[in-house]
Amino acid sequence: MEEKHDGRVVVLTNMKGGIGKTTDNDLLAVVASQMFGKKVLLIDYDQQGNTTANISRTFDVPVFERSFAKAVMVKDFESGITQVSQNLYIMPTSITSKELNDWLKDTYKDEYSQHLAFVDPLNKLRQQFDLILFDCPPSTDHVVDAVLTAADYVIPLQELKAFAMESTSKFINEVLMPIVTSYAEESRVQILGIIPVLWSRRRDLQMNHYNDLYTKYGEENIFATPIKSSDRLELFGETGIQLNDYVDRRMWSVFADIFCEMNERIAYYESTGDMEGFSYTPQYSDAVQNKVLPKGKEIEINGITTK
Ligand SMILES: Nc1ncnc2c1ncn2[C@@H]1O[C@H](COP(=O)(O)OP(=O)(O)OP(=O)(O)O)[C@@H](O)[C@H]1O
Ligand SMILES: [Mg+2]
Repeated sequence: MEEKHDGRVVVLTNMKGGIGKTTDNDLLAVVASQMFGKKVLLIDYDQQGNTTANISRTFDVPVFERSFAKAVMVKDFESGITQVSQNLYIMPTSITSKELNDWLKDTYKDEYSQHLAFVDPLNKLRQQFDLILFDCPPSTDHVVDAVLTAADYVIPLQELKAFAMESTSKFINEVLMPIVTSYAEESRVQILGIIPVLWSRRRDLQMNHYNDLYTKYGEENIFATPIKSSDRLELFGETGIQLNDYVDRRMWSVFADIFCEMNERIAYYESTGDMEGFSYTPQYSDAVQNKVLPKGKEIEINGITTK
């Protein structure tokens, strides 16, 4: 018999483009499945198809026959899934987002049912996976709204640059809050915490922005591990995700902490009802100092063994 799971749907996102959403989603999915043995489904809803290309390179899968869009349109989410390693599964992108949006609008006549279109299908998938991650485009549309309405948790990624500092509050106020207020009964979506991204510690201004985040949102709402600007993460976009040397391992240790913190946040929220008083102590990586901690040193540098 199929093993029963009780997965959560998590969306790492922001409406801002080019801040590492795809890179971070993909590495989180790979680390969760590969290092922690979690059964992970990664869904690519971005017509740019960056997650699809990245996973294709990483696991050497040249073509995907199935896709998220096709699966949505036949109302059978399972039919869009391809397994790429022992514990990682993906639903790749295919057609343009316009086509999928048109289909959603034609199929579900009112806004209410469009918003709720993914709730039941994802409830079914939850029973088969430990974690379901969505890679979304840096914009909103009916499909993104349906994803957010059906999600359990959102993790906003906050870039620490001038002109970017308002992006999380804009996302919360303009995209998430309308869903939370209009679908209070049907949607359980919650913000799990904000991850500061693309940080370069040497820049004083960014240090100020980093501190401002804490003041603005409260320490308990900021992930302890920031994702820094990193040539290696950028390289993963070219080569696929790797685990061949100490620098790769450092990246994996950053995401190991993000994965563990995410799980602890979920458990904390689900037992107490909010994040007040939450804290997490990194065990794999001191991302701020670019140091690997003892548990991170145990990560075996073995390439990525597939299948
Ligand atoms: N932490 C990082 N440091 C440096 N470069 C990065 C980092 N993360 C991602 N990149 C690079 O920045 C570019 C954009 O990254 P990515 O595609 O992951 O962002 P995105 O937010 O998903 O973009 P989009 O909004 O277009 O979907 C890519 O070239 C990627 O390799
Ligand atoms: Mg992207």
